Amino acid sequence: MSQEPRTTRSTRPPQDNIPRTRLMRERVRSAAQAYVQTHRPTPPLSLSELQTHAQTMSANVGLERQFRDYAALLISNALWRDTVAGIPMHKRLLLLPRCLRDARDCPARCDEIGLLCEHCGRCVIDAFKRQAQGLGYAVLIAEGSPIVMSLIETGQIEAVIGVSCMTTLERVYPYMEAGAVPGIALPLLYDGCQDTAVDSDWVWEALYDTTEEQGKRLDLEALREKVQTWFLPAALREILPKTNCQTHSLALDWLCAHGKRWRPFLTTATHEVLDGHVPDSILSRIAVAVECFHKASLIHDDIEDGDRLRYGDPTLHAEYGVPIALNVGDYLLGEGYRLLAEADLPAPQRTSLVRIAAHGHRTLCLGQGRELTWSRRPCVLPVNDLLAIFRDKTAPAFDVALSIGATLAEADETTLTALQSFSAALGIAYQIRDDLDDLLTPDGDRQTIIRRPSILMSLAYAAAGPAGQTRLSAAVNGSLTGTEALGATLECLSACGVERRAADLLESYKSEAIAALSALHHAALKGLLRRVITKIFFDFDIMGCCNDPQT
Ligand code: IPE
Ligand code: MG
Repeated sequence: MSQEPRTTRSTRPPQDNIPRTRLMRERVRSAAQAYVQTHRPTPPLSLSELQTHAQTMSANVGLERQFRDYAALLISNALWRDTVAGIPMHKRLLLLPRCLRDARDCPARCDEIGLLCEHCGRCVIDAFKRQAQGLGYAVLIAEGSPIVMSLIETGQIEAVIGVSCMTTLERVYPYMEAGAVPGIALPLLYDGCQDTAVDSDWVWEALYDTTEEQGKRLDLEALREKVQTWFLPAALREILPKTNCQTHSLALDWLCAHGKRWRPFLTTATHEVLDGHVPDSILSRIAVAVECFHKASLIHDDIEDGDRLRYGDPTLHAEYGVPIALNVGDYLLGEGYRLLAEADLPAPQRTSLVRIAAHGHRTLCLGQGRELTWSRRPCVLPVNDLLAIFRDKTAPAFDVALSIGATLAEADETTLTALQSFSAALGIAYQIRDDLDDLLTPDGDRQTIIRRPSILMSLAYAAAGPAGQTRLSAAVNGSLTGTEALGATLECLSACGVERRAADLLESYKSEAIAALSALHHAALKGLLRRVITKIFFDFDIMGCCNDPQT
């Protein structure tokens, strides 16, 4: 027979960072809702942005300092409320903590996914779970389970209503933010991972909250797959006109053989999230143009750097010689511009696309040019000089991709400007990661670290003492033989902990990219780009957040 579930347990001390009385908690919640109504910040907010808002709000309403984190949580809930309410219930996940159960009498077992509730009715879990499942929710009784992120990644779940202690909610927040996951966080009223309780009415309210309007969350994996199909040989043959000529077939092979397709994906995703109306028949041609520019730049870059391998295979010039490779690169540039200029779009829009591409192309050449000038008299570059080169040579391809997608969806100037700042930081972070990979990839060609201006060298030089600096300079300027130079370099890099330094710098540019998003008022675009950073830099692998004793 089911018993009356306990919703509060007065024997336990309440958490001192949550107001004791229900009335007080409701007051903070109303204040958070009013704050969001007035200031309208666009989610997702980074933890520090959220804390700043909580500080301002607390000052406005005279809330005690110890409740600031609680206020931050309720601001976050208020921010996401409409989005979550717009997501169909079968796309929502209710996440309950095991500690809501009756610690003494709970008959349920746990497996690796969580608690297997027996529906004995001794605690609130039974009622929450039954009703939520009846509404279509997925329900998990486990905190910080890796399965949550995989449900979100695969698009099965688009929003989370999570009950947990303040500590866990704060720990999970950065993951939710990095995935731009719409979420409502409901804090437990008692600490200690046992026999705790929650404001049940708040849970019911969140569970049943719904609006007609659908939240727009792109299924990024599905979108990536769609973009991949545009680069299948048959699809490309439709887009690039057939000519029986080696230049054409090499270009086609090079275009479809390899690549992560980040840039055409960004064009497509940006257009989609901004509700652009360009049909796939045109969008695919523009996405291919974006990849043509990128792939041409790689062919030329491999020639300029004398690289023999790309994607683990011989580079085009290594296989066919420099003149042919050079010409294939030029052909791809021509094709890219042709596809934009011939797109079936209003003339002013077409002109904008060509202008964006030309601007990016020009900037990239200037950045690349500075790197090439360097190679005539190599030296270790100061960190800032090198970052300026990165900004010019790597960021434009991202800027072109995003700006073209946004222009196709008729985005305003504010959006385009924010995209530019975002691309600059993203491009730099991307290039730092690429340089870091030169060191970390097993069997990689580590001579690259010396042969072209690398952030690893610049960071090591900045950190090294005079003797180290002399050795690094000698390694770069050709006074040592290849093997000696590499040996000396690797020693210096390791001595000054360059891996950590480069990783920190990478983090700071990722943060700069995230900060650039604060200028965006379009929530879906902001969410998309936040998720893009996470996707490009693989931020997730963990989520073990709760100390809940396993049974
Ligand atoms: C290579 O870019 C050049 C850099 C900016 C580091 P990617 O590594 O994105 O190249 P693809 O698209 O996978 O070929
Ligand atoms: Mg290069």
